[in-house]
Amino acid sequence: MSGAASAPGTGEETLPAIAVLVSGRGSNLGAICEAIARGEVRARVALVVSSRHDAPALDRAVSYGIACRVIAPKEYASRAEAGAALVQAICEAGAQLIVLAGYKPILDSYVIQSFPQGIINIHPSLLPAFAGGMAPRPQAEALAAGVKLTGCTVHFVTEDVDAGPIIAQASVPVLDDDTVESLSERILAEEHRLLPATIARLLSGRVHVEGRRVIVSPAG
Ligand code: GRF
Repeated sequence: MSGAASAPGTGEETLPAIAVLVSGRGSNLGAICEAIARGEVRARVALVVSSRHDAPALDRAVSYGIACRVIAPKEYASRAEAGAALVQAICEAGAQLIVLAGYKPILDSYVIQSFPQGIINIHPSLLPAFAGGMAPRPQAEALAAGVKLTGCTVHFVTEDVDAGPIIAQASVPVLDDDTVESLSERILAEEHRLLPATIARLLSGRVHVEGRRVIVSPAG
């Protein structure tokens, strides 16, 4: 497990750097690190930033040897100041892609404007359905709405919450005997596959945005 994030002296420090922002359990962070370790994502996690001191994701980051920072918005005088600290930390880490993986705060505009098409988020529904709210709210809303399919979406982060251009989606069935927990688990398994695969695709440089559509050019 160790060395999945970066291994000094092995040449991995020349790989593209990504920053992962978390607030909770960090299972998507783990999935990214495991995909890197398997060689499926040619990148290194240069920095994990948590919005909370007590996020279990921080322990996970430490277990992978990743540099961690806690930038808790409530400890700053304003959202703008917290945003400036976040931008500085990301720039210092040299990250070229920022991944929100269960990150709770709404990003300040300055952060979003500092990294145009450089920030992605994973959301546990098939956007634009069940936008807004942290897990397990989107899963609970899908169950309550009676939809037969739901899933997860990776999208670019724009100032409109959960409304940026959609990069990739994966669907799962909603079963008659599902609970919020069982449905969340099925979606999470897809998140763990979709997020690393999408990061790899973005880093390939073959992705561009045309209006609201995200287009992937053929390889070669
Ligand atoms: C995931 O369901 C993700 O879609 C949502 O928050 C949850 C984070 O889970 N944005 P984890 O912290 O990666 O385990």
